[in-house]
Amino acid sequence: MAENTSSPVNVAIDLGDRSYDILIGTGLMGHAQTYAGLPKAQAAVIVTNETVAPLYEAALRQGLQPHYAQIHTVVLPDGESHKDWPTLNLIFDALLAHGCDRKTVLFALGGGVVGDMTGFAAASYMRGVPFVQVPTTLLAQVDSSVGGKTAINHPLGKNMIGAFYQPQRVICDLDTLGTLPMRELSAGLAEVIKYGPIADMAFLDWIEANIDALMQRDVQALAHAVKRSCEIKAWVVGQDERESGLRAILNFGHTFGHAIEAGLGFGTWLHGEAVGCGMVMAAELSWRLKKVDVAFVDRLRTLIERAGLPVRGPHLHPSDNAGDYMAHMRLDKKAEAGDMKFVVIDEPGRAGVCGAPDDVVRAVIDACCV
Ligand code: NAD
Ligand code: GLY
Repeated sequence: MAENTSSPVNVAIDLGDRSYDILIGTGLMGHAQTYAGLPKAQAAVIVTNETVAPLYEAALRQGLQPHYAQIHTVVLPDGESHKDWPTLNLIFDALLAHGCDRKTVLFALGGGVVGDMTGFAAASYMRGVPFVQVPTTLLAQVDSSVGGKTAINHPLGKNMIGAFYQPQRVICDLDTLGTLPMRELSAGLAEVIKYGPIADMAFLDWIEANIDALMQRDVQALAHAVKRSCEIKAWVVGQDERESGLRAILNFGHTFGHAIEAGLGFGTWLHGEAVGCGMVMAAELSWRLKKVDVAFVDRLRTLIERAGLPVRGPHLHPSDNAGDYMAHMRLDKKAEAGDMKFVVIDEPGRAGVCGAPDDVVRAVIDACCV
């Protein structure tokens, strides 16, 4: 992807005294100007992983150099299966070993796993230190780095231990998407596609028209996809930071998706793959609840497939597959008193949360699994 240092696009996220900017552009990471105006501190700590460190740690360090007297780096093991307590503790070990004080700024350099763990570490180290998201996957640029959800997994459930804690800034350097494996690019496209049916059908039209350009990493197409996704997420989070209502729509496809991730074991399917397939299942549920027509389900399935994502769910259990899905979904954070809750499409471009009869949910799972 071409290097270019033209001014980044700026999407503001409006949360009163927790407001911040999302910078989107190319050639951002290594430039000192990108980090101007962040909280002053003696030390910055880059938290990254063993895959991303050799690719981008030096560029980030170069950009931070004029701003911080000390820059430390913590390199975590890579993967969703490491989004856990022992790995989180490696961050605290490093912060304490380096004598980091409560002004220290953490920089999350990586995908959603690094971002979620660094955010949680920042929320809890000395009861809270500032942090900056430097997302390097498409999924992280369009979703996980924005909005302040931070978490680690528990063996019994996805993202079960965490905190709402907003970053000081989000820096989406599109150049980083050039090294992303194709499977990860597709996973990110799942979260891009998500914003269409829940909030903006014109954006869904645009994605359909540009899916090939996105798959080929056309930088202008990616820039628009990241910008529009961040605008929609900023609009939702600005109204409902802590998910007391509206924000739940961002979990379209996630109830089924989290069951796939937990049921298969974290890391077997990528989060975005599980969400892509989960959106097909949630659309099917919306149809069976008579909210959308079957053409809408087919349209979404076709686009998800064109994005290189699975559209048929895996079997989680040889004899009671639907029962296994449902057991996982009763543990979902949206569940109330053990009753499953789903994000459904009330009409194209508008989503809501509702329960569903067990037999309907079973029918969806039976229809959508291989
Ligand atoms: P990830 O963080 O595991 O990154 C995917 C893979 O790509 C990893 O192997 C990573 O090392 C590698 N990688 C990252 N950047 C790269 C680059 N530029 N070039 C080459 N390789 C690169 O996965 P993800 O899809 O970014 O994030 C998924 C996680 O995000 C899940 O844990 C999910 O729960 C979480 N999430 C959180 C939120 C939120 O609001 N906090 C929203 C959506 C997803
Ligand atoms: N990814 C869902 C949310 O941020 O609320």
